[in-house]
Amino acid sequence: MRKGILTIAAVGLLTTGGLTACGDDSGDKAASAKTPKIGVILPDSKSSARWETADRRFLEEAFKAAGVKYDIQNAQNDKTAFQTIADQMITGGVTALMIVNLDSGTGKAVLDKAKSQGVATIDYDRLTLGGSAQYYVSFDNETVGKLQGEGLSKCLTEKGAKNPVVSYLNGSPTDNNATLFKAGYDSVLKPKFDAKEYTKGPEDAVPAWDNAQAATIFEQQLTTAKGKIDGVLAANDGLGNAAISILKKNKLNGKVPVTGQDASTEGLQNILAGDQCMTVYKAVREEAKAASDLAIALAKGEKKDTGQTVKDGDRDVPSVLLTPKAIYKDNVKDVIADGYVTKEEVCTAAYAKLCADAGIS
Ligand code: BGC
Repeated sequence: MRKGILTIAAVGLLTTGGLTACGDDSGDKAASAKTPKIGVILPDSKSSARWETADRRFLEEAFKAAGVKYDIQNAQNDKTAFQTIADQMITGGVTALMIVNLDSGTGKAVLDKAKSQGVATIDYDRLTLGGSAQYYVSFDNETVGKLQGEGLSKCLTEKGAKNPVVSYLNGSPTDNNATLFKAGYDSVLKPKFDAKEYTKGPEDAVPAWDNAQAATIFEQQLTTAKGKIDGVLAANDGLGNAAISILKKNKLNGKVPVTGQDASTEGLQNILAGDQCMTVYKAVREEAKAASDLAIALAKGEKKDTGQTVKDGDRDVPSVLLTPKAIYKDNVKDVIADGYVTKEEVCTAAYAKLCADAGIS
């Protein structure tokens, strides 16, 4: 009974994005307190627009609001650069390091080094498997995948598809999130394949979420399936847009529902145009704020209770997991209202009428 109440309290904390301070870890706050300086390493600027347009912006916003020093850099999908940036940040005196790993191996090396130098560590968005981060801040990524599976299924039903062939464009095989997204969409779609309600088409993982490679991969899928693909589970908007570009070449866009993730400008425009079925909106502002709060607390020698943990092998990693939201044509406006993208970005001349039709004013 008591356990139940505690669980509810923890969920309540999470939904309001709140974190409680558990007080000083060491019992000697003055001695352990450091002036916070936070280093952030973003993964690249091509696998998704979010890292530069949302994460950098909202992290800066959070750090500035808190009045802390920071250094945000982007490894541009280069693992050697990732490690060099980390070394420079550690030498430069960061008190906390937040990373979005490029793979768990290099991520772990960076986290372990930071830890050995007394630098606090946070896995931002992607969990480093076998790593040592003190916190993990992300979204409920299995739910992200579930929303994608449900979205594809909803759009296929709306199109009146009978025994549709569904292909998969999974995310990077080295990104733990891609594994979680797939577990989520499989939980919705696999029972339909098993029941012969849907037919499983080709499935590929896209290395490093490379959008250009995704187009080549999808073109090959379409050839293999002799043009008979009725729905595409694409793990993010970039991969979805790659599939849409090939569908356009074959005059199949708008007929074949495609999913996505990240509520990117391009993804939202594809939804308004009817070429993309849905996307998943993740309020990065909240993710950035939660991570920033934790990094600052760690620098002050405080320990926060996130009310939740995630398993990494035998390790229970204290985590903040935020709630994702499915976006269809009728609620594209919610993403704009939330300040994630602007009306000006989405509703360019070519999309003005579509925006008005979707109630974006
Ligand atoms: C993130 C997604 C992003 C993808 C590619 C994932 O780890 O959670 O939001 O689209 O990486 O950058």
